[in-house]
Amino acid sequence: MTEKRSSIHGQWSSRFIFILAAVGSAVGLGNIWKFPYITGENGGGAFVLVYLVCIALIGVPIMIAEILLGRRGRQSPINTMRSLVQDEQAHPAWSLLGWGGVITGFLILSYYSVIAGWALAYVFRAASGAFNGATAETIAAQFDGFLSAPLSVLAWHSIFMVMTMVVVARGVRGGLEKAVTFLMPALFVLLLVLVGYAMSLGAFSEGLDFLFSPNFEKVFYHCEVTAAGVEQCRFTGEPMLVALGHAFFTLSLGMGAIMVYGSYMPANASIARATFAIVAADTAVALLAGMAIFPIVFSNGLEAAAGPGLIFQTLPIAFGAMPGGQFFGTLFFLLLVFAAWSSAISLIEPAVAWLVENHGMKRVSAAVLMGVLAWILGIGTVLSFNLLSGEEFQLFGKTIFDLLDYLTANILLPLGGLFIALFAGWIMSRSASMDELRMRDGMGYKTWSLLVRYISPLLVAIVFFNAIGII
Ligand code: PHE
Repeated sequence: MTEKRSSIHGQWSSRFIFILAAVGSAVGLGNIWKFPYITGENGGGAFVLVYLVCIALIGVPIMIAEILLGRRGRQSPINTMRSLVQDEQAHPAWSLLGWGGVITGFLILSYYSVIAGWALAYVFRAASGAFNGATAETIAAQFDGFLSAPLSVLAWHSIFMVMTMVVVARGVRGGLEKAVTFLMPALFVLLLVLVGYAMSLGAFSEGLDFLFSPNFEKVFYHCEVTAAGVEQCRFTGEPMLVALGHAFFTLSLGMGAIMVYGSYMPANASIARATFAIVAADTAVALLAGMAIFPIVFSNGLEAAAGPGLIFQTLPIAFGAMPGGQFFGTLFFLLLVFAAWSSAISLIEPAVAWLVENHGMKRVSAAVLMGVLAWILGIGTVLSFNLLSGEEFQLFGKTIFDLLDYLTANILLPLGGLFIALFAGWIMSRSASMDELRMRDGMGYKTWSLLVRYISPLLVAIVFFNAIGII
């Protein structure tokens, strides 16, 4: 039995604060910006169902596994994996998992900060009354106008990145612990207000129908009419990969963010219970966002598959039409920025913790170094929506933003998660995992073990290899 480790970076002050911080990491642009638009692009209900199944059968057990590894190792993901490899006398190649996570987090942060910058710009736009009484067309034109000016988008991206660096430099436990305590509940309440507004629209049930009634044929069969006029349909695994990737993205899994937060978790807290709370909060926020957005889409005759601009083209219509909309709109985008902020910091925390541990860097220097690198790469995403949006600048029909998003969410996170599951399920000894989970060999542990050893890795592998065309 190894000595119990403790983290040099400090610890969350309580189990509750750990849950808040992890919810802060999980709830972000993924729930409110990404979930609605990928649901719109992938045909609705059936996609949502696959996403929920992925959350339950893959997200939950892998989150337990990731927190478990973090708390056992009590260091940055790179050093945690190194220590666990020694404890278990496993092959050193497993340490690559920590490295992969650091790189993935950095790639995600680069574009995450750009989109968070959009939200930041929209705080001021809402406050200025620009949405008051505006039609769907003017709102869409405002958004297009905003995106087509790279310098201002770059400025918002820069401001958001500086905000992220400041918090990470001070240590994740500082101001953010307190901020998250009331901001997350406030965001939740505001989403309820928006759903209330959506209920008053004629298209509320159409919106719910789109979200919750699965039509598998529409989502998983792509049909084309051939030259001879015959309709030919073929199965496509792509929406499944997007749903799987999003389950990882939205729960902050597969890249060490939850692992590094787990490394600051108090020893006596139950990992399984914390996981259920985090997953429930994250899923509720995503579904509420969908329930607010799709009724607006349908009642204004908008395109559900509008892509990354979806929330910026729909919610302002609601704010422009409802009483007190200027206030609610400003507050909403402000809370969205906070949600994004508390996620962004967890994206570079693994890298920063490692630079502090291994290179004796000060937190401040480490945060600035990572932030500046991610900022530079972020310029590619800024330009993906204007100067570099043309086909001549695309690779496989994807812009730089699309490529980064595809590579991280659909490939790197699922692969990271797969290896986390395999390590926790197969490499780590049962006595070590039972000890860290504070569980006996009962139903709970057996179920987790079955999921993490067989079910989640198999599901990830099948969806993954299917979508990239290997099976
Ligand atoms: N979970 C965050 C969101 O949904 C994004 C994120 C992904 C954060 C991976 C950390 C790690 O917005």
